Amino acid sequence: MIKSEGLLKKLNDYCPGAVPMHMPGHKRNVQLAEYLGKLGADVDITEIDGFDDLHDADGVIAEGMERADRLWGAKRSFFCVNGSTGGILATVFAVLEDGDELICARNCHKAVYNAMELRRAKPHFLFPEKEEQSGTDCIVTAGTVAAMLDKYPASKAVIITSPTYEGVICDVKAIADAVHERGAVLIVDEAHGAHLGFGCGFPDGAVKNGADVVIHSLHKTLPSLTQTAMVHVCSERVDSDKLARCMAIFETSSPSYLLMSSIDCCVRLLEERSEELFGEWYRRLKLFEEKTAALKHLRVMKKTDAMYAIEPSKLVISTRGTSINGRELMNMLRDQYSIELEMAASDYVVAMTGMGDTEENILKFADAVCEIDGAVGLAEMRERPNVDEPERCCFSWETASKEREAMDISAAVGRVSAEYVWAYPPGIPLLIPGERIGGDFEKLIESREQAGISMKSTFFALPQKIYVLKEH
Ligand SMILES: Cc1ncc(COP(=O)(O)O)c(C=O)c1O
Repeated sequence: MIKSEGLLKKLNDYCPGAVPMHMPGHKRNVQLAEYLGKLGADVDITEIDGFDDLHDADGVIAEGMERADRLWGAKRSFFCVNGSTGGILATVFAVLEDGDELICARNCHKAVYNAMELRRAKPHFLFPEKEEQSGTDCIVTAGTVAAMLDKYPASKAVIITSPTYEGVICDVKAIADAVHERGAVLIVDEAHGAHLGFGCGFPDGAVKNGADVVIHSLHKTLPSLTQTAMVHVCSERVDSDKLARCMAIFETSSPSYLLMSSIDCCVRLLEERSEELFGEWYRRLKLFEEKTAALKHLRVMKKTDAMYAIEPSKLVISTRGTSINGRELMNMLRDQYSIELEMAASDYVVAMTGMGDTEENILKFADAVCEIDGAVGLAEMRERPNVDEPERCCFSWETASKEREAMDISAAVGRVSAEYVWAYPPGIPLLIPGERIGGDFEKLIESREQAGISMKSTFFALPQKIYVLKEH
């Protein structure tokens, strides 16, 4: 194996002199148009000699992936230039065969649903318990996983999300034990947790806690470009060669060297400076905590108990019981303070922090939250719509070939959905194709729309209509 100084250094050394008689078509000529320079086209190449091949790596890219598996403590890590979405598709394909059963936490991202649909998998949904502060159903326990596996012993895998968009982490270690005792494989969508496991106040992640495959979006919480992600195989229960083949199926055959360099540089940065960078990040988070400790109306979510924890990088601010909702808080921060948040839900907002945040910005955010807190009043707690577990009439992939029709939502109660319905972010389906639309559905959509959360559906019929399967 060659020992290089990394992909970006290699690109920088090579690119100025060599004549590019190959893709990409911009030919690294950043004089051609201004945008090319801004996008880094001067080091944008293809698989030329000496630069390795992501899908058959044995040089500088292989070296980078090995560095990553050492860093996280995985058996084999894969660079992914198609986000966690690509990593999830490949993982589900590698772990399951067509028609396999699995246990899927119902709060998974739509990428998981798409993967199961393509694989014609038969999921048994595990409905997580409610986290009271955010009101989201996101707590998966080892007990519920064990009970589901005992009920459906043919399940080959369990797939969960930890941390969630709100930073809620399950007890992955206990869940992994329960899954392995029952002979299944644990897949953890840790898209929001690539920064876990480096200490300095941040908890351990799923790689260290015994998951079999872990998927990370580097771009979400680490300093790396959008779309960069990683898949870690952590045990012998998963065939990593099969996963490599699936990665090649779900990713482009021309992966961007800019994105791969971003992953490589990010891994090297953590290898060299993780203590300093995570330590500083955590210190700034503590500053935010101190500054907002005396909030009167708004609250920063931070409870931990035996069943779950909240990882510190997400600043989730609850508006519950105040005169404003999450969307209004998000708008106030944007309009009055030029602070743009990651997400607003009915009752809370999510601010994502990272090691790139400056102390000045964190303090500015804390001051703004304190100022708004002083201006809002108390109000009656808005009722949280209770959603019944939907009845499944058929698997989502079975609806694809069936005829559909658009109906007013009020008229669609009792009919079988032909669509996924979700809010983005977080991209968790509330309804999936093949499920019967319950009496509470219209109220749910209404309450979200009233709170300024726009709902999406597969065929773009919402908010007025929804596609259902035709009845013959
Ligand atoms: C829990 C979860 N998993 C997976 C994804 C997909 O990640 P990516 O955007 O990296 O494809 C997201 C995106 O928001 C997510 O929230």
